[in-house]
Amino acid sequence: MSSIMHPSNDVSVNHSGNDDILDVIQGITPSRRKFLSGSIGGATLAAFSGVGLSTIAGEVNAAYPTAPAPTVPIGFSPVPAVTSGLAAGGAMDLVTVPPGYSVQILASWGDAIVGATTPNMNAAAPQTQALQERQFGMHNDGSHFFPFPTVGTQGVANDRGLFCVNHEYTDEGLMHNTTTAGMDAMTMQKVQTSLAGHGVSVFETRKVAGKWVIVKGSPFNRRITGYTPMKVSGPAKGNNLMKTAADTTGENVLGTLNNCAAGYTPWGTYLTCEENFNGYFGANGAFTPNSLQNRYGVSTNGFGYRWHQADPRFDVNATPNEPNRHGWVVEIDPFNPRSVPVKRTALGRFKHESAAPVVAADNTVTVYMGCDERNEYIYKFVSDVKFKKGDVANNRTILDFGTLYVAKFNTDGTGSWLPLVWDAAGPLSPANGFANQGEVLIKTRQAADRLGATMMDRPEWVAVHPTTGEVYVTLTNNNRRGTTTASVNNPNGSTVAGGARPPIDAANPRADNRYGHIIRFSEVPSEGPPTVLEWEVFVLAGDKNSTITRRATVPAGSPPGAILNVPSNYFGNINGATDSTADFGAPDGLWFDKDGRLWIQTDQQGDAKGDWANIGVNAMFCADPSTREIKRFLTSPPNCEVTGVVATPDNKAFFVGIQHPGEDWRTSFTELSTWPDNGLNGPTTLSANAAVKPRSSVFVITKDDGGVIGT
Ligand code: FEO
Ligand code: CA
Ligand code: CA
Repeated sequence: MSSIMHPSNDVSVNHSGNDDILDVIQGITPSRRKFLSGSIGGATLAAFSGVGLSTIAGEVNAAYPTAPAPTVPIGFSPVPAVTSGLAAGGAMDLVTVPPGYSVQILASWGDAIVGATTPNMNAAAPQTQALQERQFGMHNDGSHFFPFPTVGTQGVANDRGLFCVNHEYTDEGLMHNTTTAGMDAMTMQKVQTSLAGHGVSVFETRKVAGKWVIVKGSPFNRRITGYTPMKVSGPAKGNNLMKTAADTTGENVLGTLNNCAAGYTPWGTYLTCEENFNGYFGANGAFTPNSLQNRYGVSTNGFGYRWHQADPRFDVNATPNEPNRHGWVVEIDPFNPRSVPVKRTALGRFKHESAAPVVAADNTVTVYMGCDERNEYIYKFVSDVKFKKGDVANNRTILDFGTLYVAKFNTDGTGSWLPLVWDAAGPLSPANGFANQGEVLIKTRQAADRLGATMMDRPEWVAVHPTTGEVYVTLTNNNRRGTTTASVNNPNGSTVAGGARPPIDAANPRADNRYGHIIRFSEVPSEGPPTVLEWEVFVLAGDKNSTITRRATVPAGSPPGAILNVPSNYFGNINGATDSTADFGAPDGLWFDKDGRLWIQTDQQGDAKGDWANIGVNAMFCADPSTREIKRFLTSPPNCEVTGVVATPDNKAFFVGIQHPGEDWRTSFTELSTWPDNGLNGPTTLSANAAVKPRSSVFVITKDDGGVIGT
């Protein structure tokens, strides 16, 4: 039931009514095949010896620049894939890390955050709004650690800071303590409690006697929820499509929802990104979505939350513009607990995953972002205002003025950035449904459709190399890619969210891409507007020992290129152990540490069944960008995702999140997992009691010898 509210594996975002049976496979054209074969260098072939040519076609642009090796080597012994022992409370209902490393639980859903006397949650009872808005929210996702400055020096602390973390969604059964949540009457009290479980937690954390703790009652501690007052800024501020009866200015929004991944700015603010906001909305009475609602997946029943039955804010018949006030990047100043969060509309409205800012040599700020749904796009925002260190008034305007671009990936390994700029007579004009620049941004997906951006296989996190500025993006999966009947996002913006079935292309080279891939690109220096890039596929995820054959049939009469769809389509080309222990799929979280090592987190079913029988539960991997070698660093409890990773400045403590352990329970909360209160990763606030609900949590990884993580 809960997974319906969390479309992590494509199954619940198909609003088109088309079925997902993919037995007829789209071939590729002979001319495309020629290009793909010709683009692969001999060295690359050698690196992937043993893997068929057809499986790596499209993944290398021979001219692509070489990535630097990490400045600190990857030295840990990888942990094995976890494919068994997954019973709740059983041997593998925990986080595993390599020998010589330790895990400590830092914060779990319902742990007291705000106020010195707030109790931790009572997991046996329904959650209440009054407690939830002072406790750690549900289902943590992206995060960041902001170190405190050190006293008397110019440095930053490795033992004290502010931790900001998103709470993406609520499992309504766990929240309201009912295994039949779908049948209960929806009430305003439930809506308010669930809204309190969303948003962001900000809390002070410090290392006390070798153990990281929440500093309860710290004046910095704060909960931002689904009803916290926020400001709207940028070109869509005050737009007619942003106005509601409760906010006739279109400038003041209540709350942030479905905060997925995150980012942080060099001026010390946190960026929280609103993803599947559409799922909270529904309609009382007859409802026919208009093209804007259709393109963003606003529907009669949403993801089944039913909040619209109790709260007219979520009824799109009563408040049709409320969905337009979500889907933005929100900037929060964690060091000022009274600051009002700001929705930065210049960064576009879509299903934001993460936001990765980069400061250029001339102090221009670029923010890279992905829109996570099948066939959606990769974007960047380039600021007009330059970053000025220490100039707070200047820096708070950086994300309001600039240009949003969407990426187009060409078959020759180059690409271009297409500006989403209103023009009285151009493609983004009133004649095409864009009244002004505010509307271009409110309708970002439709503007990108109009410009012919490249439809990608669900862009998730973006990570930027700390020295080269090279950009990596996880493309988690796309079960519609390369399937029949082929279709694309209509240029007039009329396609239902996630509904198209695009043919394979050079940047998304596999049909039925159930394991996903990671793409990387570099900007090409140029005079004038920054509109050129070059790219290649970094890795095709997969299972080297996959036995999937049911979609392997090449239909009679297919073009020669259809060989891409033989079973090796699922092997991937991961440079690691050949027994599948380095294999993974559904890459999602992505982060570079300061030493240039790439950390990859996965979000698949997490039950070690079917496509995941060899790969096992979700995990976190460490990759060398220069050799592409990938090693498994961490495994998770069952039926969760691994998400959110950030380090202290010295890289000696990693903060990592586990979201929705035991997610797919049906009749009992603890059917699939009792983590973390089963105590298998050490004490929690509730481990003195029997575990009654699995709880999403943030934990800390340290090396037993006090060294740098991953060495
Ligand atoms: Fe919330 Fe795309 O993950
Ligand atoms: Ca995901
Ligand atoms: Ca994600």
